[in-house]
Amino acid sequence: MSEATQPTRPVAPSEQSDPGAVSGREHTDAPTLVILGASGDLTSRLLLPGLGTLMAHEPDRRINLVGADRKEWGDEAWRERVLEAMCRGGARPEVAAGLARDARYQQLDVMDPEAWPAFVRSLAPDSVLYFALPPAVTMAACRLLTRADLPAGLRLGLEKPFGNDLASAQEFNRLLADLVTEEQVFRVDHFLGKSTVLNILGVRFANRLFEPVWSAADIERVDIVFDESLALEGRAGYYDKAGALIDMIQSHLLLVMAMLAMEEPNRIDHVELRDLMMHVLRATHCHPDHPSHRARYTAGQVGGKDVPSYADEPGVDPARETDTLAEVTLEIRSRRWAGVPFRLRSGKGLGDARRLAILYFRPVAHLPEGFTGEVNQNVLLFDLGEGSLGLRIATNGEGDKLSLEETVFDAQIGDSPVRPYGEILSGILDGNPLLSVRGDIAEECWRIVAPIIDAWRAGEVPLDDYPAGTMGPLTWGVV
Ligand code: BG6
Repeated sequence: MSEATQPTRPVAPSEQSDPGAVSGREHTDAPTLVILGASGDLTSRLLLPGLGTLMAHEPDRRINLVGADRKEWGDEAWRERVLEAMCRGGARPEVAAGLARDARYQQLDVMDPEAWPAFVRSLAPDSVLYFALPPAVTMAACRLLTRADLPAGLRLGLEKPFGNDLASAQEFNRLLADLVTEEQVFRVDHFLGKSTVLNILGVRFANRLFEPVWSAADIERVDIVFDESLALEGRAGYYDKAGALIDMIQSHLLLVMAMLAMEEPNRIDHVELRDLMMHVLRATHCHPDHPSHRARYTAGQVGGKDVPSYADEPGVDPARETDTLAEVTLEIRSRRWAGVPFRLRSGKGLGDARRLAILYFRPVAHLPEGFTGEVNQNVLLFDLGEGSLGLRIATNGEGDKLSLEETVFDAQIGDSPVRPYGEILSGILDGNPLLSVRGDIAEECWRIVAPIIDAWRAGEVPLDDYPAGTMGPLTWGVV
């Protein structure tokens, strides 16, 4: 139980004797954000600093911040963590100090059925329970919540991965539907909070130039590549059971693809945007002409540092044959996209960190005779890491007046000062599910990759290897 301070919210008599109730100074007009897993890595590495960037941008925002965990911590330890992370996120010292001062810590074992009722009873309406916990624990805890009397408007923030296959995602969705409405569920995918990803919508729909050529008639193929130089980074516990396909493609990259391929929304709101993303995903299937690929890195060097073979990393079970690099090619069965291969690739321990969505346009229907030089196809490139936008076009060269050469327009697009987790938290706190993954979308993403996972498990696709620090297996071809 946290240190007692005078609450400003009237305390019901039943709460006063509740050992699980959260007490403390509350802003009655502000939402309560409870972070379950307060002492964990995700909270200190991503959530709190993300919140710090939001507070830097919106210093007047009021939040009642409660940390909850099994650990025997007190308010002071939690406040220190909050303060440090807020400052790291760039919040002004007085803003960070204000938020930290009023923050509360609650010792809570989310797997203890006895702990939930009192805790939940202490929450104000419209509170947020953010599960910064492993998926299995989150699901088990949500099951226990079905027995509790939930406050009106309770919102649930759920980290990825959402389930571990289609069946478990469906089961989780059914469970959540017993607790709250879909608009109160915020399945987190931080890529939807990346300004570099949201930029795809602005470029497509706020320009006259691009949308008319945004279809199979003019686009030959699309690559979405998220190559990371980071290796395992001590995450074997999670990653060895996921691998690159599930960690990155099943969630993040399919959503990026949906934004690139969706029809034009009438307005940008959570209904339109998510309906149209779902519309594309429902039409998405493995491409019949392009097999999937999987590989695992062996020992090598990345950025001058030795990286051990993935199979030798502590906590890894080599027999699992976890993919650290995956590539799948999909087709979207619609009039707009029929025949266009969408190649999605992501991996770790690679030589060159690249976060790109690239659209390759078809060659011009007719090139007037008389030009010389090589004409490369037009390419539009979204750099999802750097936030830049590149467009490759052919121009008349400097030398011979009719000799063609390649010109690249490259523009840096301002990145948002609010980090992805700040954007995501802002949506949850404001009760706006625009940037969260709707239940049917989460299921559909599993449906798309299910045949690939099955084929890999059946040993139908060889597990290739590549030395860490390279571009991946040479036999896969150039991306
Ligand atoms: C996470 C994955 O969801 O996204 C990580 O679990 C990956 O493996 C990360 O490194 C990439 O996102 P970002 O924002 O760090 O580039």
